[in-house]
Amino acid sequence: MTIQDIERLRAELEALKCKTEKEVEEARVRLLGKKGEITALFDEFRTVAPELKREFGRTLNELKQAALEKISALKDSVCETQGPGASGVDLSMPGDPFPMGSRHPVSIVREEIVSIFRKFGYDVAEGPEVEDDYHVFEALNFPPNHPARDMQDTFFVSAGHPNPLLLRTHTSSVQVRAMETMKLPIRVICPGRVFRNEAISARAHCIFHQVEGLYIDEGVTFADLKQAILLFAREMFGPDTQIRMRPSYFPFTEPSAEVDVSCNICHGKGCNICKGTGWLEILGCGMVDPNVLEASGIDSKKYSGFAFGMGIERIAMLKWQVNDLRHYFENDMRFLGEFASAPEV
Ligand code: PHE
Repeated sequence: MTIQDIERLRAELEALKCKTEKEVEEARVRLLGKKGEITALFDEFRTVAPELKREFGRTLNELKQAALEKISALKDSVCETQGPGASGVDLSMPGDPFPMGSRHPVSIVREEIVSIFRKFGYDVAEGPEVEDDYHVFEALNFPPNHPARDMQDTFFVSAGHPNPLLLRTHTSSVQVRAMETMKLPIRVICPGRVFRNEAISARAHCIFHQVEGLYIDEGVTFADLKQAILLFAREMFGPDTQIRMRPSYFPFTEPSAEVDVSCNICHGKGCNICKGTGWLEILGCGMVDPNVLEASGIDSKKYSGFAFGMGIERIAMLKWQVNDLRHYFENDMRFLGEFASAPEV
């Protein structure tokens, strides 16, 4: 080994150019690897004459240091010049999309209904889903064994008890609790989940959601009921919406009515959503039966009131023209994603 060997390697090192990371690695192995040229010089150091060892040692160490620096500089420069991909990572790639959740259509419509009635001055009341017979039926003027109980196919939790537990079939039970506990006048809406033992089909489900409302004060009349429903329908379905009331029967209201809104798809001309009638049924309502007021300790001579109840899924189906109720319960992301951009209410 001569000092010229070292200088030759040093010149070679200075002239070294690499285009790719692979070339840099090859150069590193060739110079500094186990069998590399610089490594070999270190091995030969033993054979250098003692008086020359000092200078050799220094130049050799300088060469090694220079080689390490050069290799590291070359590595950096090929990464930069080759740009993304050289290191196997493309930093300019867009990230993996993070799927955003969205509110369920039933929640969107529930909040919309609630916010409309809040504007009218109604409070929101909630109550238990597992209720007793008294609050779901008895206090609402369904005497024991009355055939009207068959209108609502009930899931019983405990039968054979004088006041059995059951899954509430409507949120009217919350209205009973409101009448028992709230000070008059009462103006509440009761959103919540209800249960009925029905075969699941496109138009019926054993679980669904309701918003029911109750207004009790002195001198409340059917005209107030009609006006409240009309204002609600126009807020919900648009300012041109018309309503019509058909006589109906509920044990807890007298008189009772079912309310239709003018079809906002065909504007009364008749289409397959309104089945050619121009009208869509949206809710049941009526004047609270005096028996119901009295059962909760309200003087029916002094006070009167109205109540109404609607299915949230039904309103949502009309709003978005969904023709199968089951979509709301199956949690298919393709369906739920359709509502991702529904505006906040
Ligand atoms: N509770 C009734 C139902 O679930 C709806 C309703 C409420 C009707 C209030 C009239 C008055 O079908």
